[in-house]
Amino acid sequence: MIRFDGAGKRHPDGTIAVEGLDLTVPAGRTTVLVGPSGCGKTTILRMVNRMVEPTSGRVLLDGTDVTELEAAKLRRGIGYVIQQAGLFPHRKVIDNIATVPHLLGWDRKKARARAHEMLELVGLAPETAKRYPFQLSGGQQQRVGVARALAADPPLLLMDEPFSAVDPVVRAGLQEELLRLQSELNKTVLFVTHDIEEAVRLGDQIVVLREHGRIGQVADPATLLAAPADEQVAAFLGRDRGLRGLGLRPAGSIALTPLDEPFAGWRLELDEAGRATGWTGHGEHRPAAAFDPGADTLRTALDATVLSPVGAAVAVDGDGRAVGIAARAAVLDALDALHALPPRDEAGHGR
Ligand SMILES: Nc1ncnc2c1ncn2[C@@H]1O[C@H](COP(=O)(O)OP(=O)(O)OP(=O)(O)O)[C@@H](O)[C@H]1O
Ligand SMILES: [Mg+2]
Repeated sequence: MIRFDGAGKRHPDGTIAVEGLDLTVPAGRTTVLVGPSGCGKTTILRMVNRMVEPTSGRVLLDGTDVTELEAAKLRRGIGYVIQQAGLFPHRKVIDNIATVPHLLGWDRKKARARAHEMLELVGLAPETAKRYPFQLSGGQQQRVGVARALAADPPLLLMDEPFSAVDPVVRAGLQEELLRLQSELNKTVLFVTHDIEEAVRLGDQIVVLREHGRIGQVADPATLLAAPADEQVAAFLGRDRGLRGLGLRPAGSIALTPLDEPFAGWRLELDEAGRATGWTGHGEHRPAAAFDPGADTLRTALDATVLSPVGAAVAVDGDGRAVGIAARAAVLDALDALHALPPRDEAGHGR
């Protein structure tokens, strides 16, 4: 656990980077710092590993003031990932990953074995080991950066906009990977991003910061999107908060109707494998849109019913086989249930 106790950083030129920060970063969870450029995110992160020394207040790591710990030793116990990965350009990938184990005095064979294991863990091919960073794509370099941070199995990871230099598809893949790793490893992660979507996706706790590292709100993603503390936080969260909040709700609660039941005069056509090929009815054939109730969110389900030219989406299993039909109204009913509204018919709204 990290505890910022009135922590502040004033630079010699008088610039106040962070002022009076009180914040707890719980162990084993992911805390995401978001906020405008220059609000002090990097400073806050670096106060933890003593790359920045607080000029007021304290930063406690598991109860110990970090300034009482030897900086080099402290840093070897913390994984640090930055934008553009920050790899050593003249070291092969495998040696980059083995950096901290090497510093910790592991024997060469053990360090290498561990580095190979990490390479696999972050989804890189074994032959990547022998390459130099410049021979990798940006996304692959970021993976190496994550592998390097994890190599000595530190309980704490500091990640400063680690995925912001890669395209949206690669970025989504890296986020997915981090979520998977985190579900296995349960590190204490302090993650900085500009991107509220990324914060919502990755954070157990989100800290919205204003100028000088002042806290606008600390909340879990669903609470933050549903109930921003004030106008400024709401403005930072941006448009479509409600829809984005649906991205945190599983689609499993939507009531499905049987596949062979016609929907508003449309009948779902299936191929031999049980996959939907489209809707037929009214002398026409129209394409089907699908979602997986076991894996997708209400946002994806709603999107599928909006995309669908017949007003109903096909629910599919993990193999893409149709398992039921979700009418747009059934998705809206599932939304009503989130707010504990009475059924639509009784309340007299909708439909
Ligand atoms: N060495 C320094 N001397 C003076 N001011 C500094 C120094 N380093 C940072 N600052 C200032 O401290 C403030 C916070 O900087 P910091 O890098 O923590 O912001 P940030 O939130 O990480 O921004 P970004 O999103 O752009 O990365 C900024 O106003 C910055 O200009
Ligand atoms: Mg920064």
